[in-house]
Amino acid sequence: ETLNLIQRTGYHFQPPKNWINDPNGPMYYNGLYHLFYQYNPKGAVWGNIVWAHSVSKDLINWEPLEPAIYPTDHFDINGCWSGSATILPGNKPVILYTGIDPENRQVQNYAIPKNYSDPYLREWVKPKDNPIVDPDRSVNASAFRDPTTAWYGKDGLWRIVVGSKRNHRGIAYLYRSRDFVHWVKAKRPLHSKDKTGMWECPDFFPVPLNGKNGVDTSFDGPDIKYVLKVSIDLTRYEYYTVGQYHQGIDRYVPDNTSVDGWSGLRYDYGNFYASKTFFDVDKNRRILWGWANESDTAKHDVAKGWAGIQTIPRELWLDSSGKQLIQWPIEELETLRGDKIQIKNHKLKMGEQIEIKGITAIQADVDVTFLLPSSLDSAEQFDPRWVNAQDVCALKGIKVEGGVGPFGLFTLASENLKEYTPVFFRIFKAPQKHVVLMCSDARSSSVRSGLYKPSFAGFVDVDLTDRKLSLRSLIDHSVVESFGAGGKTCITSRVYPTFTSLNDAHLFAFNYGKESITIESLNAWSMKRPQIN
Ligand code: FRU
Repeated sequence: ETLNLIQRTGYHFQPPKNWINDPNGPMYYNGLYHLFYQYNPKGAVWGNIVWAHSVSKDLINWEPLEPAIYPTDHFDINGCWSGSATILPGNKPVILYTGIDPENRQVQNYAIPKNYSDPYLREWVKPKDNPIVDPDRSVNASAFRDPTTAWYGKDGLWRIVVGSKRNHRGIAYLYRSRDFVHWVKAKRPLHSKDKTGMWECPDFFPVPLNGKNGVDTSFDGPDIKYVLKVSIDLTRYEYYTVGQYHQGIDRYVPDNTSVDGWSGLRYDYGNFYASKTFFDVDKNRRILWGWANESDTAKHDVAKGWAGIQTIPRELWLDSSGKQLIQWPIEELETLRGDKIQIKNHKLKMGEQIEIKGITAIQADVDVTFLLPSSLDSAEQFDPRWVNAQDVCALKGIKVEGGVGPFGLFTLASENLKEYTPVFFRIFKAPQKHVVLMCSDARSSSVRSGLYKPSFAGFVDVDLTDRKLSLRSLIDHSVVESFGAGGKTCITSRVYPTFTSLNDAHLFAFNYGKESITIESLNAWSMKRPQIN
């Protein structure tokens, strides 16, 4: 009971009980948003996977429906795994998903609405000509899954990518079809990369060079780049590159400013996996859904009766540099904001921490802009050997005094700071520039042992000439989703403080660096509970 009171989220997407993983086939159709997701109807551990289904008018309040896709036939009898939706001409949605067949081979299937005039699209039919894509002899049949949303080419052919690997090479296999039923594998994959391992849940989409708007996955026009994202099962992180799609040869080539593979950019430097985007034609934006697994033990998951949440949908667009994406929680989230606290121009001297009182610290939205000292001369020296941000965060944490930083927030903190999840920045000096490290350090989040408590961190590629650095954290019982520098670097942490009452949670702002830091403005809101499933 206490476990659920404290740990179950208030405004994140969860079903009432049981295991969930990847978001599947998100789409907007006739005024409603649909979210499907990997779900075990029988328990709080992975297994018996079906596509659960919920609908929403605002991406915040959700109404549950019966599972849309579940094992029925030889082509999916051992599981209905991840996939995507495509809206075909004539406003006809179709789902592509991976089925596990009697030999445990991974095949790709399609499903269509039984009744297009049902506004909820409750029932889905799997035509008898499934599977529509079989692993051929050159393909590893146990690593061949998660079809993307299809895009349409000038030549009248639809295209999809299916994630795979061969030995240690991650592969995005490309398939083409004229009728969406007969698919032919392209001679060459859309893209691949050695020494990366299995590419799960690939996502491939265009992003405009300018502005925040999104475009349809089949958009064909000037002033766009492409993004290829893959989820790598070995590291449990998602990596993306920004690049060019050469339509003539059907190949994707990352820009030379984008690093391919494990040292590349990540959507999120924390617990965020198997994500998927879709184009929201109603508001002209591209929206990103991601899954945040528990980092508690399976025993506790079973005791709670549930495991896994979907993160708050994020709007995503290309940064003006063209080198990375920006992510920001959808504006609809702000409808949940209740009681508000504001702080303006408050100086935090070395070693100072102030409590942000007057809101429900266990269920909150905090947005703060820090003003840095006019000179960053006293920033610590950056060691060029520090390539892994998470290691630097582990090394320095909040306890090693710095010049500029560490400063930030203590989220989900107990009153005496026995438990707290610090989300913070440290600024380093490097030749020609400064290096900004952002951490969401779960090591101090709970006194319990047996939990996964990593020092999640990423670097923030931000220009500090205006001396400003912002941080937004969405705090919700057992999750902290943080957005640094307006969404340049994002970190999601799952944490389990041993609170026994909702009022045990506290929120602080702190500065443990030598130089004073000013809170230019801080806005914090209690978050209301939407209707979720
Ligand atoms: C990613 C994943 C997918 C697969 C699904 C099975 O988390 O492993 O590759 O389709 O989950 O539930």
